Amino acid sequence: MDKSYLFNTDFSGVLGEDYDLLKHICPTAIEMSHLVGSTIKGYTSATTRSGTAPLTVIELGCGTGITTLSLLSARSDILITAIDNEPTMLNQAKKSLADYVKSERLSFLEEDALSALSTLPDNSVDIIASAYTLHNFLNDYRNEVLEQCYRVLIPGGLFINGDRYGLDDISAHTALIQQEVSQYFKVLTALKRIDLLEHWIVHLFSDESQNHCMRESAAIRQMVTCGFTTPVVQDRNAVSALLTAMKA
Ligand SMILES: C[S@@+](CC[C@H](N)C(=O)[O-])C[C@H]1O[C@@H](n2cnc3c(N)ncnc32)[C@H](O)[C@@H]1O
Repeated sequence: MDKSYLFNTDFSGVLGEDYDLLKHICPTAIEMSHLVGSTIKGYTSATTRSGTAPLTVIELGCGTGITTLSLLSARSDILITAIDNEPTMLNQAKKSLADYVKSERLSFLEEDALSALSTLPDNSVDIIASAYTLHNFLNDYRNEVLEQCYRVLIPGGLFINGDRYGLDDISAHTALIQQEVSQYFKVLTALKRIDLLEHWIVHLFSDESQNHCMRESAAIRQMVTCGFTTPVVQDRNAVSALLTAMKA
């Protein structure tokens, strides 16, 4: 058996190179990044800060920088460390967001999310933000990442993730996935990108596998088990939704 297809969650090849075509096959993904950005607008840090110290933000899986730009545009008083372990994606973000790096509002870290979080001190980060990254993690790894997120956030810190949160109703969920597949075929055959179509379909099988899929209720339970208060799944659009939670 060729196991190279198993868990094809990596963005090193054609998926990463042509990631910008995602806006055509899945416009919701772009909207979700905007939502992640606009959600941090209203956040007030729980810590007493000296003067006007900026908020610290860790972004998990910045990819090509779509969500990063939304965060940076949402407010000027934040310092973002954007983490991604895939150079094909990260190099595109580095190029398009170079001005923010120059102005020291943004730094990039090419590292695995769990390793990067593990090196951070307890209670040291105001906001952890992410979009469409956590669903790529295997469940056990994701659990470890969420435990680390809880540890490094300050009390009152915000966790926000716009992502694929599967519907608890499996039949309704399957119907949405069927529509998603139809959309992939419609757009990518029109663009004559059968190569990309193959990669996205293979990737979708990983997303939908039992050891990746984050179902809404299970995801909320997982956040509560990690210690987060009042996790809420909102702004659902098909299989995508926004999850917010606070550290007590
Ligand atoms: C689908 S992209 C999302 C990028 C961006 N947030 C967006 O919405 O367009 C997921 C990103 O997560 C990164 N990623 C996946 N697993 C990771 C891990 N364990 N550590 C760090 N980054 C990871 C991938 O390389 C990829 O760039």
